[in-house]
Amino acid sequence: MESLDFHTSRALLEWQMELGADECIVDAPVDRYALPDRLAKPKAKQEEAKPHLTKGPVALSERDAVAEARAAAEGAVTLEDLKAAMQAFDLCDLKRGARKMVFSDGIAGAPVMIIGEAPGREEDRSGKPFVGAAGQLLDRMFDAIGMGRNNPAAPLYITNILPWRPPHNRDPKPEEIAMMQPFLMRHIALADPKVLVVMGNWACQALLAKRGITRLRGQWTTAVDKPALPMFHPAYLLRNPPAKREAWVDLLSLRNAVDK
Ligand code: URA
Repeated sequence: MESLDFHTSRALLEWQMELGADECIVDAPVDRYALPDRLAKPKAKQEEAKPHLTKGPVALSERDAVAEARAAAEGAVTLEDLKAAMQAFDLCDLKRGARKMVFSDGIAGAPVMIIGEAPGREEDRSGKPFVGAAGQLLDRMFDAIGMGRNNPAAPLYITNILPWRPPHNRDPKPEEIAMMQPFLMRHIALADPKVLVVMGNWACQALLAKRGITRLRGQWTTAVDKPALPMFHPAYLLRNPPAKREAWVDLLSLRNAVDK
């Protein structure tokens, strides 16, 4: 039988659920009307299950995801290594629901590295960060100060705190941020920009351990030993166009810092 990919399998399952199927068929029939004493003893079941936890391969829940991420990230000596290490990292559940991993775009070695939140639908499909509506605004914003991801004279390098799309674009979970943070730190160290642009609350959370972008934006700070400028996320600017005025002030401050 031809094997199904994740998305096709999920679509088929969802279709069956819509039709009312709410249980999987097992190999042996199950008597749902059996009295408790005719059912297998739960204790025996537990004992059966135990050896898998102790003797078999270590269960995912028992592994220290942050420690494994740190070891994998520290082993990367180039951006290509880092990308491969992230692709091989299996402990973040987001990976299972994503179509593509989104590593970066732009020119590695650029003086400005932009850190966003996580891929959305467009990014998940294309494998590149900031290509949807927010990304198009981001390109226009930086174009206005003469910078761009494909501009060799004044390039940008762009990534996100999470490389896989959260389902339905939900907020990142603290454990997802913590698990992927060693990769982000290594990413910054290897890309080695002059300054960081920290886009929105979730990036502030991951890099500065702070939230409150309305207060933080425009205030230069330090993250990973680099000058860092928190800015409004372009998705927020799409919802709140008047905030573009502050974003423009921040862009000018950024251009000034890069030109110094
Ligand atoms: N929003 C982000 O923060 N990152 C993307 O890549 C796309 C939208």
